[in-house]
Amino acid sequence: MPALDSLLQNNRQWAADRVGRDPTFFTRLEKQQAPEFLWIGCSDSRVPANEIVGLDPGELFVHRNVANVVVHTDLNCLSVLQFAIDVLKVKHVIVCGHYGCGGIRAALEKDQHGLIDNWLRHVQDVARAHEVKLEAMPTFDARVDKLCELNVIDQAQNVARTTIVQDAWRRGHQVELHGWIYGLKDGLITDLGLQISG
Ligand code: CO
Repeated sequence: MPALDSLLQNNRQWAADRVGRDPTFFTRLEKQQAPEFLWIGCSDSRVPANEIVGLDPGELFVHRNVANVVVHTDLNCLSVLQFAIDVLKVKHVIVCGHYGCGGIRAALEKDQHGLIDNWLRHVQDVARAHEVKLEAMPTFDARVDKLCELNVIDQAQNVARTTIVQDAWRRGHQVELHGWIYGLKDGLITDLGLQISG
């Protein structure tokens, strides 16, 4: 498997480069992580969290799933959120979606994709809640991109409503929530202007 071998080769090169530039990089990181940011993003391979915001290992705590969805019964996402806020004491939670999201598109299409359709029901709920705004968009692609934005805002609001964030705010832990969207076409992130801080 030459393709897989090249991944391991890349890894050895990467580690060597890091140590070359910063000899104590790994020994420092091994002892602790102290990220200030939690990133909740899409699993899409074109949206690599650390890379697009220029952060090193140790600087960004990350949770990714298809279409960056935050569901109140998702133990996986909630556990990441709780650990990030209560233990790591992150200062910012960023929900970052992206334009042209395949999950969002699939949620708007009527086609069936298997098990994932159950997950995307959450995005369809967002679409239903904003039906009028979506119907006003001139094309299907524009509707997809609009839903990408609306989904970020709704999911960030879901973060705000969790007992984890509510309790943190009650304790006086100033954690801020943000809604961002990434453009596949130019690599740029737009702040959707949503900032929630208790
Ligand atoms: Co996506």
